[in-house]
Amino acid sequence: MSDVQPEDAPSTQEPEPAHPAGNDTRRDFLGRAGGVALIGGVVASYGSLAAVAGRFMFPEPDGGKVWVYAARLADVAVGQALSFSTPSGARLTIARTKDTGGAEDFIALSSVCPHLGCQVHWEEQNDRFFCPCHNGVFDPEGRGIGGPVLDAGQSLASYPLRAENGLLFIEVDAPVQGGAA
Ligand code: FES
Repeated sequence: MSDVQPEDAPSTQEPEPAHPAGNDTRRDFLGRAGGVALIGGVVASYGSLAAVAGRFMFPEPDGGKVWVYAARLADVAVGQALSFSTPSGARLTIARTKDTGGAEDFIALSSVCPHLGCQVHWEEQNDRFFCPCHNGVFDPEGRGIGGPVLDAGQSLASYPLRAENGLLFIEVDAPVQGGAA
């Protein structure tokens, strides 16, 4: 009864802020950052702007991957998350879980369900990501813990991050060159 195809799924949902992981610190993080969902919405525009502004700022072709600017480290406090669109159009969430000053403070997860491609969203009250298409459930680290994604052992894709000179960069698929324009 919930065989909604990805094309039929609501496409206007913005990825909700993630409560990324940590080890024991994750629960502390979740407790302290109860307002992450709201904060994420506020800073979402930073990610979108950064994706556009930094699109070609840090190119490093490597097997179809490029490093692009994501945010200034100082602009994302612990407990905050931002929505990010890659140059090739992928949507993901970048969240800060620690404050050591490096890329390890952050986690970047795809907002696309690995089951059939619907948009997942963060449910703050349940501390989980949820995919409404077939009731897929993911923990704050993006691991499938319910629905077809659990059955299939699927997780939200994660993205490499690195920090240089106070700036956070993310490795993503390179945009298709010479495509239909
Ligand atoms: S698309 Fe089926 S659970 Fe997400």
